[in-house]
Amino acid sequence: MTIKRILKWSMLVIFVGLVVWLFIAYWTSSNDCQRNAPNNPMKAILSCEYGVDNLQLRELEKPSRFGTDFAGVVEAVGKNVTDFKTGNEVFGAKDGAVAEYICVKADRAIAMKPINITFEQAGSVGVAGVTALQGLRDKGHIHAGQKVLINGASGGVGTFAVQIAKAFGAEVTGVCSTRNVDLVKSIGADHVIDYTKQDFTKTDQHYDMIYDLVGNHGFSERRNILKPNGICVLAGIGGAGAHPETMVRIAGNFWNAFRSNFSKEKFVFYIAKLTEGDFGVLRDLMQSGKVSPVIDRTYKLEQTADAVRYMEEGHARGKVVVMVE
Ligand SMILES: NC(=O)c1ccc[n+]([C@@H]2O[C@H](COP(=O)([O-])OP(=O)(O)OC[C@H]3O[C@@H](n4cnc5c(N)ncnc54)[C@H](OP(=O)(O)O)[C@@H]3O)[C@@H](O)[C@H]2O)c1
Repeated sequence: MTIKRILKWSMLVIFVGLVVWLFIAYWTSSNDCQRNAPNNPMKAILSCEYGVDNLQLRELEKPSRFGTDFAGVVEAVGKNVTDFKTGNEVFGAKDGAVAEYICVKADRAIAMKPINITFEQAGSVGVAGVTALQGLRDKGHIHAGQKVLINGASGGVGTFAVQIAKAFGAEVTGVCSTRNVDLVKSIGADHVIDYTKQDFTKTDQHYDMIYDLVGNHGFSERRNILKPNGICVLAGIGGAGAHPETMVRIAGNFWNAFRSNFSKEKFVFYIAKLTEGDFGVLRDLMQSGKVSPVIDRTYKLEQTADAVRYMEEGHARGKVVVMVE
């Protein structure tokens, strides 16, 4: 009887102790959204909980954590930096870019901003520009005179892809919806297919390369419109915009690439890498007027969540930019 009572009371004490400990841990815990006032503050967007509704504008210690593409003016450089100096106008890519300040290694993904390009445009280049360049050049081995079809030509990556393909001397067909036909023509596409009226896999045209940012057609449909030894570069990882089925699309891309080992036409899938050299190439393309970033909308820093919501709809016309005043 006594042992039973001791056990009962011990269990009760342990249980109460655990509850008290959990409460103390909860009330004393903090995340990035609950820090004390920073000594060296800057404004930044924080993802306090999962989901776009939880993006919040806060003051933090420099640097912070959201977004990748940036453009701005160099405020200070390290003692060994020779390529850049204070006051230089630059653009590039680095995690945590949606903020007033960002710290970047001088030998990484950063280049001087061409003077004919606005900060707004330069800040939109980052991932989209590099993705288009690497897909067409490194994966597709694009060259002058080739017939290239770009599926998803009106979006962030697509508007760079159309212009870069033209800069390489290709004959470009862009696929987009009715409202974007004029835009895609205006950035240099030789032909435009309106996907609401015509399925690009059902024409009598054959291409050296399909640069696919959407992935809404099957393996055989795309292979049938490639020339012998043609290539389909799979860049889309979830359709245009953000999609929950991203992992399924990535698996599908790998599967298509594997299947193409047994056919003359090749399918290749890739994830872009942010390299310094490619920012130099993009700078030169912009400087020469061959590429001009297309800006759909501009948002203020505190409207970042709205910008992300809009992008997630998957119908951006070019790039969406957040401006830091
Ligand atoms: N592999 C990589 O490293 C890498 C890097 C970056 C992005 N991506 C992927 O590349 C894809 C495109 O990215 P993004 O930033 O360009 O997207 P985005 O800016 O959201 O692209 C939206 C565009 O896609 C068009 N679109 C939607 N459905 C279409 C369809 N059925 N056919 C043709 N066009 C259609 C939309 O035009 P309408 O409004 O007219 O429909 C809109 O202009 C995404 O899947 C993204 O995940 C891959």
